[in-house]
Amino acid sequence: MATIEELDEQAREILRRNDRGGYSVPTAGLYPYQWNWDSAFSAYGYAEFDIDRAWTELETLFSGQWDNGMVPHILFHQADDGYFPGPDVWGAQGHGPIDSSGISQPPVAAAFARRIHDLDPSVGAERVGALFEPMLKWHRWFMKCRGESGAICITHPWESGRDNAPSWDKSLAAVDASNVGPYVRRDTGHVDASMRPTKYDYDRYIAIVNFGRDNNWDEDVILTDGPFRVADPTMTFTLLRSHRDLSYLGQELGRDTSEVDGWIEELESGAASLWNETIGAYDTKDLRTGEFGGTASSASFLNWYGGVENGVALDTLKQFNAGTKYGVASHDPRLGSFDPKRYWRGPVWAVVNYLVGSGLGSCGHMQEAEKIRQDTAELISKNGFAEYYDPNTGEPAGGGSFSWTAAVWLSWASPSAGEGN
Ligand code: DGY
Repeated sequence: MATIEELDEQAREILRRNDRGGYSVPTAGLYPYQWNWDSAFSAYGYAEFDIDRAWTELETLFSGQWDNGMVPHILFHQADDGYFPGPDVWGAQGHGPIDSSGISQPPVAAAFARRIHDLDPSVGAERVGALFEPMLKWHRWFMKCRGESGAICITHPWESGRDNAPSWDKSLAAVDASNVGPYVRRDTGHVDASMRPTKYDYDRYIAIVNFGRDNNWDEDVILTDGPFRVADPTMTFTLLRSHRDLSYLGQELGRDTSEVDGWIEELESGAASLWNETIGAYDTKDLRTGEFGGTASSASFLNWYGGVENGVALDTLKQFNAGTKYGVASHDPRLGSFDPKRYWRGPVWAVVNYLVGSGLGSCGHMQEAEKIRQDTAELISKNGFAEYYDPNTGEPAGGGSFSWTAAVWLSWASPSAGEGN
């Protein structure tokens, strides 16, 4: 088995190899563009060995910000036939300075900006100073365009990052995909189809994209008539955490933080609306029907990352982790719908482990935090820098040489990492 030093070097090498000049692709082939939350994780990985490059990653991400404040989930910097759906399917040209998708992704950028700032405040104050207003504008967009229920919702499963999680099954079933027509998927040319979403799911993903494009990504129309609107713990707790970190940065910079401080209070009470007593966990909630998704997922345990304590959730997390060799499974291993290789229906993701584990640690749950960090370290050191892993066998799944897995290794899971050790 490779030594810690060798693994650290492999991780740095993955980030360097996935660097396309100012931004990183998640992995070559499968994801050939700049993805929003992948990029924020990559920035944190770079910060372990190249602070300047870390800031550049975030700056490039915000260079694609739309006029309305939204920061897209994909920036199509250079055309690439290996990915579907590309810029023409999204039809979002003209909304921002760079061709992009029409939806966003979990807002972890401000949280990482704070951590990168704190690693070297002399460089950080200058770089983050220019990013403060764009980050504030993005957070304002979330509160205005995704915050009507008090919690933060998504308008497409891709917006949550947890594309085919069972959390969306009931809401996706209500999406009419009858007019989608033929299309050619590219993902299954890169990765075995058994590890990816089904055609049933993809038809609905494309139907939702078509709705946004046909309505010129008008947020008012998407709010009133969009086919999918589900409040989500990932969005809610990552935004809550990022609000807190943005407020911290604002204070460091001597800026007015009253607006963001108000959002923190609003979101703390909005997050409570996602508590599902029946399953003892934070859950998704369909805003069209008022119904909970009805299943716990790894996103249910992001409350500590958001700075929200909950003893019942801690018990549920322990039961969840007792069901698999490695935690944290993306879907409840006690349920029949658990599928250990299919993307967000069971596999463990190092990035979510970071969010859950570091959140637990910052709330003083050191034992649980350390178990998750050690599981992550073992998964990576035994199986490489995969996109995700089978939580029972540890087998790598999805894409390989993954930027955000390398970043999580460097910044948190590696015994030589800066954080939490
Ligand atoms: C994909 O293409 O699988 C992505 O997750 C969409 O963002």
